[in-house]
Amino acid sequence: MTAVVRHPTGADHARIDAIIDDWWGGRPMRRMLPRLFFEHFADTSFVVEEGDDLVAFLVAFVSDTRSDEAYIHFVGVRPDRRGEGHARALYERFFALAGERGCRSVGCITAPINEGSIAFHRSLGFDLVPGDADVGGTSVHTSYDGPGEDRVVFRRTLP
Ligand SMILES: CC(C)(COP(=O)(O)OP(=O)(O)OC[C@H]1O[C@@H](n2cnc3c(N)ncnc32)[C@H](O)[C@@H]1OP(=O)(O)O)[C@@H](O)C(=O)NCCC(=O)NCCS
Repeated sequence: MTAVVRHPTGADHARIDAIIDDWWGGRPMRRMLPRLFFEHFADTSFVVEEGDDLVAFLVAFVSDTRSDEAYIHFVGVRPDRRGEGHARALYERFFALAGERGCRSVGCITAPINEGSIAFHRSLGFDLVPGDADVGGTSVHTSYDGPGEDRVVFRRTLP
């Protein structure tokens, strides 16, 4: 079946809310992706579907504070559809969109425990923004998102 890429609507929140913890290997992620992203950042976000089946999604936006920067908040690919290039295709689609809107770089963050995400972002050409600690060879920003909420911070220059 052909994959269709479209912008999300508010109604997509319920579908993604229902699967997100499962797609993240049981980690509690739901509270980090409230409906407001689907209502107010739809033009810069995407879902991938095959028929009624959700295959992947990307939630991203152009920074309101720094207009030459874009930010990718979430990307997820259904576990049985990983390794097929869906996330790379969504990132490249967003890079093009962000470039058209005048952005010169894209940022994102991930949890140090998420080794798959770190490897994925390195493959996509992101650099790690140096943090204040080294965890197993990875530079980490300790308590970046609150006490104990360490994050790896990525940045990629756009052409
Ligand atoms: C990370 C994730 C989005 C990757 O999606 P995907 O569709 O499988 O990735 P792609 O097939 O587009 O892979 C793109 C590149 O990343 C690499 N890559 C992807 N996942 C990887 C992993 N777990 N380990 C090592 N490399 C990985 C691929 O080898 C590929 O490299 P190449 O293009 O140079 O050959 C997916 O595994 C996922 O949904 N994980 C759970 C959610 C998550 O952690 N999201 C990121 C944080 S918001």
